[in-house]
Amino acid sequence: MIKVQDIAYVRFKVPDLDKMLKFAADFGLTLTADHDGVLYHRGSDPSPYCHVAEEAEDAEFLGLAFEAASAEDLERASALEGASAVEKIDAPGGGQRVRFTDPDGYRVEVVHGRELLSPLAVPVSHGVNRGSERQRLGSVHRPPAGPSSVKRLGHAVIRVADFRRSEDWYKSRFGFLSSDEVYLGDPENVITAFMRCDRGAEFADHHTLLCVGMGEPGFDHAAFEVEDIDALMAGHDYLAKADYAHHAGIGRHVLGSQIFDYWRDPWGNVLEHFTDGDLFDASAETARHDPGTALGTAWGSFVAN
Ligand SMILES: [Fe+2]
Repeated sequence: MIKVQDIAYVRFKVPDLDKMLKFAADFGLTLTADHDGVLYHRGSDPSPYCHVAEEAEDAEFLGLAFEAASAEDLERASALEGASAVEKIDAPGGGQRVRFTDPDGYRVEVVHGRELLSPLAVPVSHGVNRGSERQRLGSVHRPPAGPSSVKRLGHAVIRVADFRRSEDWYKSRFGFLSSDEVYLGDPENVITAFMRCDRGAEFADHHTLLCVGMGEPGFDHAAFEVEDIDALMAGHDYLAKADYAHHAGIGRHVLGSQIFDYWRDPWGNVLEHFTDGDLFDASAETARHDPGTALGTAWGSFVAN
């Protein structure tokens, strides 16, 4: 087993690259390169890309990739069951990868050594004046309008035929830990877990991957972290004015605590903006919840439009 460090990118087939370019820019992603007819988009973080779109006749979700901690780990990944050999990545930033096919046929890549880019400047707030703690003294707060400043890809959610089978597949290869489990009916009937990366004493996102064992297998959503609530709200206004399809939100999740806003790309893939999520180190215990808690919000709505 290796312990992956984070999610790296999601990969889609799309039938119209011009439409993809326009949506990605409006969603707050930045084009790294059009490389042999494949679009690679990044956030403001140094990762060279977090969203990959290949041109094809029909739209389709292809799979997702995770970051290995080291070249040695990537080598070890190539010895895991079902792994390819270590291969060169023919994409901006280069690097190496190992490919797998998960139990539902999704393509899973583990990558290492992609060349990092300079971070992009994004509008940042100079502190928040909370009721109990004043941080911004003597300066104004005027966040700009326009697309959200996407920072990075934070998590992906896929629907699977058998949750326990997928959980075992991902955990036994990549070392995921469960932050929260969700059951349906009988508390033993766990249908999903919010899985995070095991980064030891370092804090990781409350969830990097969810495999949901309910409904038809397929892509559920991918979530991109934005700088703060101003970026999320400005992005919401911008996408709404541009007439994109809103999926759900805005609200704050109970499990993971992030503020969320879900949109659809031109082919119906749900992409989320989020900010202010929980961070756990490897010591956090797994909790189990009913669906009401999993779908519940601290405020706002998680009902799909
Ligand atoms: Fe999400």
